[in-house]
Amino acid sequence: MTEIILHEPLDMHLHLRDGAMLRIVAPLSAHSFSGALIMPNLVPPVTDAESMRAYRKRILAAIGDETFEPYMTLFFKPEYDLDFLAPMAEELTAVKLYPAGITTNSEGGVSGFDIEELRPALGALSELGIPLCIHGETGGFVMDREKEFVPIYEALADAFPDLTIIMEHITTAESVAALDRHPNLYATITLHHLLITLDDVAGGMLQPHLFCKPIAKRPEDREALLQAALDAHPKVMFGSDSAPHPQHAKECPGCAAGVFTAPIALPALAELFARHGKLENLQHFVSSNAQRIYGLNPPKKKVRLTDTPMRVPEKYGEVVPMFAGEEIGWSIDAVSVK
Ligand code: NCD
Ligand code: ZN
Repeated sequence: MTEIILHEPLDMHLHLRDGAMLRIVAPLSAHSFSGALIMPNLVPPVTDAESMRAYRKRILAAIGDETFEPYMTLFFKPEYDLDFLAPMAEELTAVKLYPAGITTNSEGGVSGFDIEELRPALGALSELGIPLCIHGETGGFVMDREKEFVPIYEALADAFPDLTIIMEHITTAESVAALDRHPNLYATITLHHLLITLDDVAGGMLQPHLFCKPIAKRPEDREALLQAALDAHPKVMFGSDSAPHPQHAKECPGCAAGVFTAPIALPALAELFARHGKLENLQHFVSSNAQRIYGLNPPKKKVRLTDTPMRVPEKYGEVVPMFAGEEIGWSIDAVSVK
C-alpha cells in the first residue's frame, strides 16, 4: 500500500454558494481541507465588510465542528479605494476581479481594463498588501479568451509591481509561460484542467458536468499545466474552482458552467501525482506554495491518503460531482487535527 500524509491542505479557489447549497457543500470541503479561499460571486455579490462578515458567519455555521478557515474575498469594484478597504484589510485575504458577464454571477464585474481608471482601487490593494485574484478571460472566441487576456495580466503586473496578482484557474500554456516573466504573477490550477481537454467535454456526447469557465483547452495546454503542478512550480497553487450547481441547472439547455470536485479533489490529486511518480511534490501544490504566496498560517490538519480505491457517490444532495459513480484509485484514510 502506498500512502501520503498531507499537512494543512488548502483550496485556493472555492465556490461555497449560500443557503441550502452552502449547508451541503461546505462540510465536504471543511472535512479534508484546512482552509479555502471563498469566492464572492453570490447573488448579490459580496462587496462590503458587512456582507463579507455575515457570509463568513454563515460558512462557519454550515461547517459545524470541522477545523477549517474560510479565507474571505470581496468582489472587485473599480470604485474601491484605500478608505473603503483599509478598515477590513485584516479580514480580507484577497479581492476577486471578474470581467463583466464572463461567468456565473459576474454581471457586476469590470468592463474594459483602463489602468488609470483602475489605479485608485489597485493602488489601494497594493498598498494594503491584499492580493488581487483575476478571472482572466476576454469576450473573444471561447478557446482564445484566456490567451487574449495574457497581455492584460502583463500590463497590470507591470503597472502595479508591488501588487500580488493571481491568475485564477489557468488553462493554457501561454498563462504558464507568463508566470516566469513577472515576479508578481502567480496562478491557481484546478483538478479538472489537469485531467481533461475540450475533447472530454464536447468531443463525444456532451458532458455537462465537465462544462466550466474557462473551458478546458487543448492537450498541449493540459500538458503545460500538468508539468507546472507536478514539478511543484513555486508560483502555482491548487484552486479547485469547485462550482456546484443543482443537477437540473446542469442537465438542460443553457447548462450552467462549473465542475463540482471539492469532495474528490484530494484523492484524485493523489492518484494523479502518484501515477506520475511525483507524490512528494503534492504538498507544495496543495499547501506550501499557497501559504508562502498569501502569507497564511492555516489551522493544523493531517490528511492521510492511501491507494485504496473509492467509489464516488452519484450525487451530493442535488449536485453531481466529477467522476460520479466511478472509481478513483486513491481515498482519504484518516483526517486528524492537532
Ligand atoms: C464558476 C461558478 O459557477 O461560480 N463557474 C465556473 O465555470 N468555473 C464561476 C467561475 O469561477 O468562473
Ligand atoms: Zn471560480
